[in-house]
Amino acid sequence: MANTKSIHGEWSSRFAYILAATGSAVGLGNIWKFPYITGENGGGAFVLVYLGCVLAIGIPIMIAETMMGRRGRQSPINTLSTLSIEAGADKNWHYLGWMGVIAGMLILSYYSVIAGWASAYVIKAFFGGFSSDALEVKAVFDELIASPKQLVFWHTAFMIVTMSVVMRGVNGGLEKAVRFLMPTLFVLLMLLVAYAMTTGEFYFKGISFLFDPDFSEIDGDAVLTAMGHAFFTLGLGMGAIMVYGSYLPSDVSIAKTTLYIAGADTIVALLAGMAIFPLVFANGLEPGSGPGLIFQTLPIAFGSMMGGWLFGVLFFVLLVLAALTSSISLIEPAVAWLVENKGFSRVKASIVSGCGTWLLGICVAFSFNIWSDIKLFDKTIFDLLDYLTANLMLPIGGFCIAVFAGWIMKQKHVEDELSLPEEQFKIWKILVSYVAPISVFLVFLHVLGIF
Ligand code: PHE
Repeated sequence: MANTKSIHGEWSSRFAYILAATGSAVGLGNIWKFPYITGENGGGAFVLVYLGCVLAIGIPIMIAETMMGRRGRQSPINTLSTLSIEAGADKNWHYLGWMGVIAGMLILSYYSVIAGWASAYVIKAFFGGFSSDALEVKAVFDELIASPKQLVFWHTAFMIVTMSVVMRGVNGGLEKAVRFLMPTLFVLLMLLVAYAMTTGEFYFKGISFLFDPDFSEIDGDAVLTAMGHAFFTLGLGMGAIMVYGSYLPSDVSIAKTTLYIAGADTIVALLAGMAIFPLVFANGLEPGSGPGLIFQTLPIAFGSMMGGWLFGVLFFVLLVLAALTSSISLIEPAVAWLVENKGFSRVKASIVSGCGTWLLGICVAFSFNIWSDIKLFDKTIFDLLDYLTANLMLPIGGFCIAVFAGWIMKQKHVEDELSLPEEQFKIWKILVSYVAPISVFLVFLHVLGIF
């Protein structure tokens, strides 16, 4: 089985896979979410916990999830059925695939709304809508999210673009787009960091907020958020990287490529933090001001720097594209399953799964304005979906993946698929069988107040 191909196609090369998987990992999670949750959770200590989770939990599970995908060569649901039969295990494992499909669609429903904000900002940047005054910049943002019409419009536009890329399948377009996108995004972020250095608050406030840990700032929920974010930012626990792994040629080293991808993802997040926090402090803004953080800070930089118009337009275009390369991986498990099990064409599968996600996204858009009073557990629809997916479903999914790869699959099959030198295999095996699942479990116990 290890040498067969997926019916959906295959990446044209190792490099193409790295680009696509980096495209899935790098997205709004790095540039929009990481800075604002770091701001809400007190900075350095949170960043340290997040980095620890990436290393000890995220990377081993990412290797496991990719490996399972390549061995199963199908949508996550069918991959899990096949692999559990191969291992002589209970067939109910395929429900893990179902949880992933649902998590992916739930995430995409709000992801698309936020990507819609970024799209709206492309237009604002283009028409010179940014100023160097923090209050004016905030007013622009407040006006946008108060408008259900605008949010629904941009969310709809983003969903249409996402689904039309997904329709074209694995190699068409996607590979090429990412090839240009990633390096440019990187250069632009460096430029923003360089600008942040000129604000005077770079080292003493910005960098120290990000890197000086103060553990009194952190509680159980912050640890859960940091761990959940490690899953979210790497795109783990819901089958995205599993389905990408299923299109991976057999001779590519999974461990090595995973390290590149996780490394690039982490660097982009840290650069985003280094660009944003100096601006937050230099302009007397609140680091914990929530999901609007980058939309209330970066425009100030674009509004004041030389060439800011051009960089502003470019930055938001790239942010939308980075979101796009993540959103297609969020819906791919659902699409692949509809094609495999329901005999749908890719076009039909994309439309069906896209419409459901789009409808839910409309509720998310309303939760920022006309439905902002509708709350469950004190959370709006947006907050609830974010908490449910990033903090609960992804870590639970990741935990099950670690258990499956570490304890259920036959050791020989895993070794074959990873083809690692013995020492390295042993390290991974310990991480995936013990360290990762036990850590996730302890964090949950901690949040429940048991540990
Ligand atoms: N990793 C993406 C980001 O950081 C989001 C994502 C989550 C993608 C889960 C795939 C799966 O923006």
